[in-house]
Amino acid sequence: MTQAELAEKIGVSSKTISKWETAKGLPDISLLQPLAGALGISVIELMNGEYIINRNVSANMLRSKFYACPICGNAIHALGNTVVSCCGITLPALEAEEADDDHAVTIENVEDEHFITVHHPMTKQHYISFVVFVTSDRAQMVKLYPEGDAQTRLQLRGRGYLYYYCNRHGLFRKKI
Ligand SMILES: [Fe+2]
Repeated sequence: MTQAELAEKIGVSSKTISKWETAKGLPDISLLQPLAGALGISVIELMNGEYIINRNVSANMLRSKFYACPICGNAIHALGNTVVSCCGITLPALEAEEADDDHAVTIENVEDEHFITVHHPMTKQHYISFVVFVTSDRAQMVKLYPEGDAQTRLQLRGRGYLYYYCNRHGLFRKKI
């Protein structure tokens, strides 16, 4: 798209577009929505300077992404890359780490379910916020609460990944 084409779409001069491109000026806030629309991106992507492309067209549970809001505790599960905003901030996709000694997990078989215990404090300041078991076609998410138990029962069908999120230390993952 040329400067003139973009300028015409949002009703400014091509000189104005040139100024933005050469960092001699910034778009007026009232132009953010029309500018994002003309470029075919979201306002969040425009502000971040990062274009999110989800190449995972058919989606795949095993490529799940998780997002957690540090302000309100919201938890979001997506099947690929996306732009997530909560409480006024853009949330990065959580990077899952292998379980460490401070976030160890045990899995016991109880009839047709599996009893998951994360060996971790559950205080108001430091706790496991959610547990998710993801297989190729389904996800079971369990919300845990401070001062409760870091335990839950899950139907573990097939192979997949057990994810659990500590509000201080981030996302952990164990292959099952
Ligand atoms: Fe922790």
